[in-house]
Amino acid sequence: MVKKRAASSEIDNLPKHVAIIMDGNGRWAKKRGLPRIAGHRAGVGALQEIVNLSAKAGIEVLTVYAFSSENWKRPRTEISMLMELFASSLRQRFKGLHDNNVRLRFMGDLSLFPEKLRTSMKDAENLTTNNTGLKLVVAVNYGGRWDITNAFIQLCNKIKDKEVRIEDINEALIGEYVCLSDLPEPALFIRTGGEMRISNYLLWQLAYTELYFDDCLWPDFGAANLEKAFEWYAGRERRFGRTSEQIEHA
Ligand code: IPE
Ligand code: IPE
Ligand code: MG
Repeated sequence: MVKKRAASSEIDNLPKHVAIIMDGNGRWAKKRGLPRIAGHRAGVGALQEIVNLSAKAGIEVLTVYAFSSENWKRPRTEISMLMELFASSLRQRFKGLHDNNVRLRFMGDLSLFPEKLRTSMKDAENLTTNNTGLKLVVAVNYGGRWDITNAFIQLCNKIKDKEVRIEDINEALIGEYVCLSDLPEPALFIRTGGEMRISNYLLWQLAYTELYFDDCLWPDFGAANLEKAFEWYAGRERRFGRTSEQIEHA
C-alpha cells in the first residue's frame, strides 16, 4: 500500500524560516536539450509554487538564493539573460505576490545591478512593506562572506565614530549587523540539485540550521518534495549543544 504523505497543513512543528538554494536549473534544461535560460525560466515557476505553498502552510520567512556573488563568473550571455529574467519576473509576478499578502525583500550587494532593476526592487519592497503574510527574501548578488565582511565594516566604522567600544563586541552584536538579523534564524535549509555544499550562502545564519538536500532539480521541486522536507524537519531533535535527555525533560 502506498503511504499517503501528510499535507504540510497536517504537520506539526513546521520551520518558521526556510532558506533554499534553488540549484539545478541548467541541468534540467540540458536534460531536455534546451538552453540554460529555459531552466532558469522553469525555475521561476517552481519558486512561485513554493512561495504559494509556504504562504498557505503558514511559514513566516522564505529566503531563496537567486544569484550568488560567484555567479558573475558565468558566461556574459547567461548573466544578462538572468538579469532580464529577474526584471521580467518581478514585473509579471509582483501583483500576484502582493495580492497574496507577501512581503518582499532583496538581500545582497545590489550596487552592481542595473539602475532600473534596482529601482523596481526598491519599489516592490516599499509597496509590500505593510503586507502581513509570508516574508519572501530573495538573495541576489549575495555571498555569506560579503555579508560578514559588510557587518565587519559597519562595526569598524561605529568604533571609529566612538559609537561602539571594542569591549562591546560579542556574537549578539555581530549578529545585529548581518543580513536577516530582524528575522527568526533559518530553521530549515534546503538545497536541490544534489550538491552537498553551502556555496557561500548564509554562512553566519546557518550555524544551527537543519540541513536538507534533495537530488531533485529545482524546476521539478514541488509540493511533494517540500512536504518531504517538512516531515524530515519535524523529526529532527534540535539540541543546540544540549543532550537528548535535557531536551526530553525541558
Ligand atoms: C541555479 O541553477 C540557478 C542559479 C545559480 C542562477 P544552476 O544554473 O546553477 O543550475 P546547474 O547547477 O548548472 O544545473
Ligand atoms: C548556488 O548555486 C547559487 C544559487 C543557486 C543562486 P551554484 O550552482 O552557483 O553553486 P556551485 O557553483 O555549484 O557551488
Ligand atoms: Mg548550480
